[in-house]
Amino acid sequence: MKKILVIHGPNLNLLGTREKDIYGQITLAEINQQLQKKARTQEVELEIFQSNHEGEIVDIIQKAKNNQVGAILINPAGYTHTSVAIRDAILAVGIPTVEVHLSNIHSREDFRHTSLIAPVAKGQVSGFGANSYYLGLDAALSLLAS
Ligand code: DQA
Repeated sequence: MKKILVIHGPNLNLLGTREKDIYGQITLAEINQQLQKKARTQEVELEIFQSNHEGEIVDIIQKAKNNQVGAILINPAGYTHTSVAIRDAILAVGIPTVEVHLSNIHSREDFRHTSLIAPVAKGQVSGFGANSYYLGLDAALSLLAS
Protein backbone atom coordinates (compact mmCIF):
# COMPACT_ATOMS: atom_id res chain seq x y z
CA MET A 1 0.00 0.00 0.00
CA LYS A 2 1.24 3.51 -0.78
CA LYS A 3 2.21 5.58 2.21
CA ILE A 4 2.17 9.29 3.18
CA LEU A 5 4.06 10.57 6.21
CA VAL A 6 2.20 13.37 8.04
CA ILE A 7 4.37 15.52 10.32
CA HIS A 8 3.04 18.05 12.81
CA GLY A 9 5.66 20.34 14.33
CA PRO A 10 5.93 22.02 17.73
CA ASN A 11 2.90 23.22 19.70
CA LEU A 12 0.42 21.67 17.28
CA ASN A 13 -0.37 19.13 20.02
CA LEU A 14 -2.05 22.11 21.75
CA LEU A 15 -4.55 22.80 18.96
CA GLY A 16 -8.01 23.34 20.38
CA THR A 17 -6.67 25.28 23.35
CA ARG A 18 -3.89 27.33 21.75
CA GLU A 19 -4.59 30.84 20.34
CA LYS A 20 -8.05 29.80 19.19
CA ASP A 21 -8.64 33.11 17.40
CA ILE A 22 -5.79 32.18 15.04
CA TYR A 23 -5.86 28.38 14.92
CA GLY A 24 -9.52 27.60 15.65
CA GLN A 25 -11.21 25.14 17.99
CA ILE A 26 -10.27 21.95 16.21
CA THR A 27 -7.92 19.53 17.97
CA LEU A 28 -5.03 17.70 16.37
CA ALA A 29 -6.80 14.38 17.03
CA GLU A 30 -9.82 15.60 15.04
CA ILE A 31 -7.63 16.72 12.13
CA ASN A 32 -5.83 13.38 12.16
CA GLN A 33 -9.15 11.52 12.14
CA GLN A 34 -10.30 13.43 9.05
CA LEU A 35 -6.98 12.81 7.31
CA GLN A 36 -7.17 9.08 8.07
CA LYS A 37 -10.74 8.91 6.80
CA LYS A 38 -9.82 10.52 3.50
CA ALA A 39 -6.67 8.42 3.05
CA ARG A 40 -8.62 5.20 3.66
CA THR A 41 -10.98 5.98 0.78
CA GLN A 42 -7.90 6.26 -1.46
CA GLU A 43 -6.33 3.08 -0.04
CA VAL A 44 -3.32 5.03 1.13
CA GLU A 45 -1.66 4.44 4.49
CA LEU A 46 -0.93 7.48 6.68
CA GLU A 47 1.88 7.49 9.21
CA ILE A 48 1.18 10.42 11.55
CA PHE A 49 3.83 11.97 13.78
CA GLN A 50 3.90 15.03 16.06
CA SER A 51 6.98 16.34 17.80
CA ASN A 52 8.11 19.44 19.62
CA HIS A 53 11.74 18.52 18.87
CA GLU A 54 13.57 19.50 15.70
CA GLY A 55 15.95 16.52 15.77
CA GLU A 56 13.08 14.05 16.08
CA ILE A 57 11.50 15.57 12.98
CA VAL A 58 14.82 15.26 11.13
CA ASP A 59 15.06 11.60 12.25
CA ILE A 60 11.59 10.65 10.99
CA ILE A 61 12.22 12.34 7.63
CA GLN A 62 15.52 10.43 7.27
CA LYS A 63 13.79 7.13 8.09
CA ALA A 64 11.00 7.81 5.61
CA LYS A 65 13.25 6.73 2.75
CA ASN A 66 13.48 3.15 4.03
CA ASN A 67 9.89 3.16 5.22
CA GLN A 68 8.43 3.22 1.70
CA VAL A 69 7.03 6.74 2.14
CA GLY A 70 5.94 8.19 -1.24
CA ALA A 71 5.06 11.71 -0.08
CA ILE A 72 5.36 13.90 3.01
CA LEU A 73 2.70 16.31 4.33
CA ILE A 74 4.26 18.64 6.88
CA ASN A 75 3.23 21.54 9.07
CA PRO A 76 6.65 22.52 10.41
CA ALA A 77 4.98 25.13 12.69
CA GLY A 78 7.59 27.40 14.35
CA TYR A 79 10.43 25.49 12.62
CA THR A 80 9.10 26.71 9.27
CA HIS A 81 10.90 29.96 9.82
CA THR A 82 14.15 28.69 11.35
CA SER A 83 15.02 25.13 10.46
CA VAL A 84 17.85 24.60 8.01
CA ALA A 85 18.05 21.04 9.41
CA ILE A 86 14.48 20.09 8.43
CA ARG A 87 14.95 21.67 5.02
CA ASP A 88 18.19 19.71 4.49
CA ALA A 89 16.51 16.45 5.57
CA ILE A 90 13.75 16.95 2.97
CA LEU A 91 16.39 17.62 0.33
CA ALA A 92 18.43 14.60 1.45
CA VAL A 93 15.59 12.07 1.10
CA GLY A 94 14.19 13.62 -2.07
CA ILE A 95 10.60 12.65 -1.17
CA PRO A 96 7.96 15.03 -2.64
CA THR A 97 6.74 17.25 0.20
CA VAL A 98 3.70 19.45 0.73
CA GLU A 99 3.92 22.23 3.33
CA VAL A 100 0.75 23.29 5.15
CA HIS A 101 -0.23 25.97 7.65
CA LEU A 102 -3.54 26.60 9.38
CA SER A 103 -2.99 30.36 9.41
CA ASN A 104 -1.89 32.52 6.48
CA ILE A 105 1.77 32.98 7.40
CA HIS A 106 2.09 35.72 4.79
CA SER A 107 -0.48 37.96 6.47
CA ARG A 108 1.02 37.66 9.96
CA GLU A 109 4.20 39.03 11.59
CA ASP A 110 7.15 39.68 9.26
CA PHE A 111 9.21 36.85 10.74
CA ARG A 112 6.54 34.35 9.60
CA HIS A 113 6.68 35.49 5.97
CA THR A 114 9.80 33.48 5.28
CA SER A 115 9.58 29.72 5.06
CA LEU A 116 12.88 27.85 4.81
CA ILE A 117 10.85 24.79 3.82
CA ALA A 118 8.82 26.25 0.92
CA PRO A 119 11.71 26.30 -1.61
CA VAL A 120 12.27 22.55 -1.16
CA ALA A 121 8.55 21.65 -1.05
CA LYS A 122 6.42 20.93 -4.11
CA GLY A 123 4.05 23.61 -2.81
CA GLN A 124 2.49 25.30 0.17
CA VAL A 125 -1.11 25.57 1.43
CA SER A 126 -1.55 28.34 3.99
CA GLY A 127 -4.48 30.12 5.58
CA PHE A 128 -7.46 27.76 5.35
CA GLY A 129 -7.53 26.45 8.89
CA ALA A 130 -7.88 22.66 9.11
CA ASN A 131 -8.81 22.70 5.42
CA SER A 132 -5.15 23.49 4.66
CA TYR A 133 -4.38 19.95 5.81
CA TYR A 134 -7.17 18.38 3.74
CA LEU A 135 -6.18 20.35 0.63
CA GLY A 136 -2.56 19.46 1.33
CA LEU A 137 -3.48 15.80 1.56
CA ASP A 138 -5.18 16.04 -1.85
CA ALA A 139 -1.95 17.49 -3.24
CA ALA A 140 0.12 14.72 -1.60
CA LEU A 141 -2.24 12.07 -2.98
CA SER A 142 -1.84 13.43 -6.48
CA LEU A 143 1.96 13.47 -6.04
CA LEU A 144 1.77 9.80 -5.03
CA ALA A 145 -0.25 8.98 -8.11
CA SER A 146 2.12 10.78 -10.52
C1 DQA B 1 1.70 27.55 11.79
C2 DQA B 1 2.25 28.96 11.55
C3 DQA B 1 3.59 29.14 12.24
O1 DQA B 1 4.10 30.45 12.00
C4 DQA B 1 3.43 28.95 13.72
O2 DQA B 1 4.70 29.04 14.36
C5 DQA B 1 2.75 27.68 14.08
C6 DQA B 1 1.62 27.23 13.26
C7 DQA B 1 0.28 27.37 11.19
O3 DQA B 1 -0.14 26.22 11.04
O4 DQA B 1 -0.41 28.35 10.93
O5 DQA B 1 3.04 27.07 15.09
O6 DQA B 1 2.55 26.61 11.15
